[in-house]
Amino acid sequence: MRYSTVCACKWLIKFIAAIIVIVITFCIGLHSETSTDHNATLVATTPTLTPEEELQIYIKNLSSWQGQNDSATVNSHPYQYLIVPTKICKLNGAVSDPFLLIVVKSYVSNIGHREAIRATWGKDLPPSVRLVFILGYLDFMKSYIAIESRRYKDIIQEDFFDVYRNNTVKTIMGFNWAVTNCKESQYTFFVDDDYIVNIPKLLTYIKSHQKKNKGVGLYAGYMWEKAYPKRSHVSKWYVPYEDYPCKFWPKYVGGGSMMISMDVASAMKEAFPFIKPIFIDDVYIGIVAATLGVKVQMEGKFSPDYKPDKIGLLYSTHGVESSSALMHDWEMVKSKIKK
Ligand SMILES: *[C@@H]1O[C@H](CO)[C@@H](O)[C@H](O)[C@H]1NC(C)=O
Ligand SMILES: *[C@@H]1O[C@H](CO)[C@@H](O)[C@H](O)[C@H]1NC(C)=O
Ligand SMILES: *[C@@H]1O[C@H](CO)[C@@H](O)[C@H](O)[C@H]1NC(C)=O
Repeated sequence: MRYSTVCACKWLIKFIAAIIVIVITFCIGLHSETSTDHNATLVATTPTLTPEEELQIYIKNLSSWQGQNDSATVNSHPYQYLIVPTKICKLNGAVSDPFLLIVVKSYVSNIGHREAIRATWGKDLPPSVRLVFILGYLDFMKSYIAIESRRYKDIIQEDFFDVYRNNTVKTIMGFNWAVTNCKESQYTFFVDDDYIVNIPKLLTYIKSHQKKNKGVGLYAGYMWEKAYPKRSHVSKWYVPYEDYPCKFWPKYVGGGSMMISMDVASAMKEAFPFIKPIFIDDVYIGIVAATLGVKVQMEGKFSPDYKPDKIGLLYSTHGVESSSALMHDWEMVKSKIKK
């Protein structure tokens, strides 16, 4: 009787010890799950794909458009030019195509921004560089834009509404125009109208790329990695799962400043009709680049933050608040730009 009690106690102690060990192991497991790569743990415990694998499969599927005909179009661009520039490239009256075509994406009513750019970093461009502005349409701006375009002949405008949600339409218009009209240009630089650009440094950069890479294969700028779609309905950038199912966006270049070689721009133009649009234009260009197998080149000198005092070291800097701020800041910093 006494012996069996001792024995039962031993078994009980062993049993409790085992439970403690199991609980501790489980807790350590849980802890490492939260502190290490969540995705890796998910893969270990469930047979689902990692976000990276999911993205790869999605992109591979998107790439299957190649070799298809017009019946596979999922992104039509049924808009007409209202205004086109003159003497920018050979096809519209220039003697030659520029080495670098700068395409400034501008909101139609931002006349002041455009005037400020023409008076500051866009002024006295070297002969190898030309600049155009891309705009959508708003009725109340019609007469102003007519005057502006007659005066400067540097505006491209189609008949879609110039609203934020048509940003990708606007960017596609820029690609279409550049690729069709400036076939012998080597590079195109897409930049928003709230940037300051250091043209001489930008030229040094692409000339060096041209030497090393024969001027092809470039899609460069400030790269965003592991950025993800906003799934909250109240977000300005809300993207439903039907439009994009993956957890992450592919790597992409912040759309305010993208340097692209013309071969890449041309391949993208061919791909647009077959790749479902996302209204966030830089993300969309990133998706198209991924389907084409074009690698993103990270260049921190395209600064997403406003650092005008550092412009001597940068290719571009983002965040000019107004046209008067641009004029003012340019006066302060223009001497830092080495010709
Ligand atoms: C691939 O794309 C087609 C057409 O866009 C779609 O119907 C199909 O579900 C996709 N497959 C996968 C695995 O995403
Ligand atoms: C386009 O491709 C589809 C399927 O790939 C084919 O059925 C169709 O006949 C083609 N149309 C033309 C005009 O070539
Ligand atoms: C984009 O422009 C087109 C053509 O003007 C218009 O029909 C459409 O409603 C615009 N998109 C948005 C989201 O307003």
